[in-house]
Amino acid sequence: MTLDGTAHTIVMTGASGGIGLAAATSILRLDPAVRLVTIGRTPGPFHERVTHRRADLGSVAQTTAALDAIVRAAGAKELPPVDGFVGNAGVQSVSDLYETEDGYEATFAINVLANLLAVRSLENIFARPSRVVITVSDTHFGDLRHNLGMVPGPRWMPPERLSRAGSFPKPTSVRAGRTAYSTSKLAAIHLVHALARDLPAGVDVVSFNPGLVPGTGLARDGGRATRFAMARVLPLLTA
Ligand SMILES: NC(=O)c1ccc[n+]([C@@H]2O[C@H](COP(=O)([O-])OP(=O)(O)OC[C@H]3O[C@@H](n4cnc5c(N)ncnc54)[C@H](OP(=O)(O)O)[C@@H]3O)[C@@H](O)[C@H]2O)c1
Repeated sequence: MTLDGTAHTIVMTGASGGIGLAAATSILRLDPAVRLVTIGRTPGPFHERVTHRRADLGSVAQTTAALDAIVRAAGAKELPPVDGFVGNAGVQSVSDLYETEDGYEATFAINVLANLLAVRSLENIFARPSRVVITVSDTHFGDLRHNLGMVPGPRWMPPERLSRAGSFPKPTSVRAGRTAYSTSKLAAIHLVHALARDLPAGVDVVSFNPGLVPGTGLARDGGRATRFAMARVLPLLTA
């Protein structure tokens, strides 16, 4: 990634709200040479240096089509060199039963698989140096200190099982949905390590843990108590 005034492109998911919208807005403010290409269901920041590619990251076909379009645009020099990918999109569900059109459990598909698809699509066009940043979380620790008791710890199992709905005990429960979340974030850390071993020299990959950030849309599917705590109580504790 460059901050020397040379035009360059960062591809980003999860830029439409919460942590990602704040990050995208800062990137645009701090780096006048950056072109941002956002991928998601909803456009990211409306800005002259932002291009949006519409895709539900829970769909392999839609995600791949958006990435292919970016690769083509970079190849045709319609975009400055791509030297960054920020995989920030994430979901937390109220059960472990949401399935994508491809038959994957939705949390795993969006929080893990979409990042893998993005990096694999972009790795042949990444400039040197480039950087991949994947948003992870404290929840993989699974302890009270990191989670305030709000999210159960991860339950690791082979990815072919983790990627399928109904893998955690009592899959209809909120607890199962949150276990799927913490486990997906552990899987994202494993993914970062695997990519670090595998990506070519000059392409770095790091995980980014924002810590607890109340007031975002992450708990939008949670019960009333969770939404109230995230929107009203925790912001007071972290102010
Ligand atoms: N808030 C926290 O305390 C916290 C702590 C640690 C880590 N994180 C992580 O930080 C990241 C951002 O979370 P946030 O708290 O800012 O939540 P948020 O406000 O709900 O933002 C989530 C982002 O992901 C996008 N997204 C979700 N599902 C998608 C899908 N199927 N297709 C395309 N885009 C999708 C959303 O876009 P649309 O819904 O508009 O499509 C949105 O831009 C996540 O990876 C989360 O796990 C959050």
